[in-house]
Amino acid sequence: MYAIPRFKPSFTFRDIFKSFWPPEGNNGVPKFERAFGDYLGVKGAVCVPSGRGGLFLILKNLKLAPGDEIILPSFTFYAVPQVVVRLGLRPVFVDIDPRNYNIDIQKLKEFIKKRCKINSKTGQLVNRLTGKSIRVIIATHLFGLPSRIEAICDLAKKHRIKVIEDCAQACGVEVGGQKLGTFGYASFFTLGTTKNLPALGGGLVASNDQKLIERIRKEVNKYPLPKGIEKLRLVLEAIIMKLATGTILFPWLTFPLIKAFGLLGKDVVRDLFRENPKRGGKRRKKRMTNFQARLGLKQLAKLDNSNETRKRNGGLLIQELAERESIPVPQQKDNIFISFPLLVKEREQFRKRLRQRGIDTSRGYMNDCSNLSIFNKFKTSSPNAERAEREIVHIPIYPALSPKELRYISRVIKDEMEE
Ligand SMILES: Cc1ncc(COP(=O)(O)O)c(C=O)c1O
Repeated sequence: MYAIPRFKPSFTFRDIFKSFWPPEGNNGVPKFERAFGDYLGVKGAVCVPSGRGGLFLILKNLKLAPGDEIILPSFTFYAVPQVVVRLGLRPVFVDIDPRNYNIDIQKLKEFIKKRCKINSKTGQLVNRLTGKSIRVIIATHLFGLPSRIEAICDLAKKHRIKVIEDCAQACGVEVGGQKLGTFGYASFFTLGTTKNLPALGGGLVASNDQKLIERIRKEVNKYPLPKGIEKLRLVLEAIIMKLATGTILFPWLTFPLIKAFGLLGKDVVRDLFRENPKRGGKRRKKRMTNFQARLGLKQLAKLDNSNETRKRNGGLLIQELAERESIPVPQQKDNIFISFPLLVKEREQFRKRLRQRGIDTSRGYMNDCSNLSIFNKFKTSSPNAERAEREIVHIPIYPALSPKELRYISRVIKDEMEE
């Protein structure tokens, strides 16, 4: 009987312990920053407390005026537009392309053409409805799939808008031989445990503007370091996550619990990790520690390999599912498969049937933010984002899966997916 978790952290117990021991002095953070900058091919990278913290620092350093507008895809992690709002800026939501879940370039062009004008004095793009300047596009790359980054950058350049890339789910993705996170003015990454470059939390900002990186570094250096007890919590969380998704505990404890709660209509894993948009999602401003950076370095050394395995796994699943043409598999080109999303109308029934056959899935944590009550003032209609929020199911795809498990997953999907 199979018992396949929805995700498995990519670090090993050895990685965690070796990050502490033997102690290697206090240069872990600068070493990690340099290695990451070199990996991406940018002039500078800096460790920040979290992905959203990175966006906050980039935007704060752009010298924007209150009420300036920031374009983002409607389907995104709520914490991203929340940073925009907290800085007194206005999010403008544009619907997504259902083929890659990222901003729809045609809709973006339409918005600029029909709803904006050029301010003849400043040359800046202005939203006709609000009279506010449009200064930034956040190009989010979800699920390991690149957005149409070259087209976005061309459009932005034409209209004197800066592009910030949200690479939280796209670390190591290449488009035409160039890494995502190097196309725009600046980019941010997250180092959360479920991502492909985990370092027990934290994030990175990358840019070719060294002045921006230095300003951010100066600001981050004023943040306190986590206390001993907080560091211990980070490590314990990582160990618990490893154990709970491991081959011993998952089939005998974690999965039976998930199934039992599932019968009550509850997703315990989601409830455990979910951040409630209404409660805030503020991340504490804490510097990254040396042991996190050392763990990050170890993961960086493995990143290309693990991304290759993700690609192979994604390719295998797509190939296996191809015989049922009605299954809308994700795009394979340039995809590193951070997750494998499918849209399913009877989502919870489908997830339940998969659980009964030994496969745990997730509905993820993206929202149609253009229709989220906390962004009511910026509400707009985004049918594709709305559908994605309602129907998305993430199928397990992480590197630790074997070809046998992947074939089993595809067989079950083919059996259980409605025609
Ligand atoms: C697409 C996306 N953007 C931004 C973030 C924010 O990262 P963090 O949780 O490190 O603030 C996440 C988090 O997972 C994300 O998935």
